[in-house]
Amino acid sequence: MSQRPAPAPDLPSPVLAIESSCDDTACAIVSADGTIMAEATLTQSGHVPFGGVVPEIAARAHLGALPALVRDVLDRAGMKPAGIGAIAASCGPGLIGGLIVGANFAKGLALALGRPFIAVNHIEAHALTARLPGITPDGAPFPYLLLLVSGGHCQCIAVEGVGRYRRLGGTIDDAAGEAFDKVAKMLGLGWPGGPAVEALARHGDPSAFALPRPLMGRTGCDFSFSGLKTAVAQKLAPYDRAALPHDVAAGLAASFQMAVSDIVADRIEHALDMMPDARGLVAAGGVAANTSLRARLTEIARARGLPFAAPPLRLCTDNAVMVAWAAIETMHEARAHGLPVPDDIALRPRPRWPLSDMAARFAPAGTAD
Ligand code: KG4
Ligand code: ZN
Repeated sequence: MSQRPAPAPDLPSPVLAIESSCDDTACAIVSADGTIMAEATLTQSGHVPFGGVVPEIAARAHLGALPALVRDVLDRAGMKPAGIGAIAASCGPGLIGGLIVGANFAKGLALALGRPFIAVNHIEAHALTARLPGITPDGAPFPYLLLLVSGGHCQCIAVEGVGRYRRLGGTIDDAAGEAFDKVAKMLGLGWPGGPAVEALARHGDPSAFALPRPLMGRTGCDFSFSGLKTAVAQKLAPYDRAALPHDVAAGLAASFQMAVSDIVADRIEHALDMMPDARGLVAAGGVAANTSLRARLTEIARARGLPFAAPPLRLCTDNAVMVAWAAIETMHEARAHGLPVPDDIALRPRPRWPLSDMAARFAPAGTAD
């Protein structure tokens, strides 16, 4: 099915979804036609002193926050639990402690209510968000190229259909957001660093410092940011970090941001060459909020006559609406294959869950391994 699914009134609806794979605790209720009935995302602050996500802190914070968050979202939707048609949760990839907390809470709800539980692959959820009604004018028909750039992920994925994904390339070291966060830390900007680096970069000259662009021009669309991060550290070495001149900090931020944009632009050009049938370019993940990166991606897509789409920021970063929507697309796809609504109550959360595993859901009985 290349266009968005037509509403199927007999599918379980609405879907209550939980997202807890990293440091955001989120819950949303979305009806089968894609209407967002209520949503909420709590950003955990306990990681700030550590300058990055601490898995144990994340799991405990999810545990503490989820019950009240779910009740709050039900209240906002004006619903009782019994009105929910299906329950979904991110079951991987991600930090296993948080995944266990969210998935088990969701499974408990599903069991108590006698509703199906749908396990959602977190990356698949990012990949399908652009198809949520109202996000893109054309509904992001398949196939399209997805650039997923966040604190934890950095990859190019050919999205060919629900359950049909081809990873074209990805980072061989840091994720793009991780690089922004590390550079922000070096510049004394706090965490998360992306927005702070972007704000500082506005005051700086992007050609102030010569920085490397690892892997640029190479075949394929893998990324590497660790050499760039080291180069920023080397440029900073002669300065007293506690008294860094503003123009140096701004110049480094701007030069770093330009280097990241150049790298990503080059990799995306290659990825589009690898996917000649792409009908659009979609970006997701926190780094897709970066204005200069968005401008570059828009330009690349326009030059190829393709639409460029990036969901609004709250749906680009980790959220539960995308988890609910992925569950809805999964139910539609199962229906299209003559299969029942999936029930994944026995599926265990997993820290790694390759997208290539997702096609097995829709394989004819007896052919999946
Ligand atoms: O998708 P996200 O909220 O969480 C996951 O990592 O899954 O992405 C967060 C990342 C952080 O590394 C943050 O520094 C980065 O996205 N980020 C940005 C911007 N806003 C957030 N990076 C560059 N420019 C931004 N405006
Ligand atoms: Zn994510």
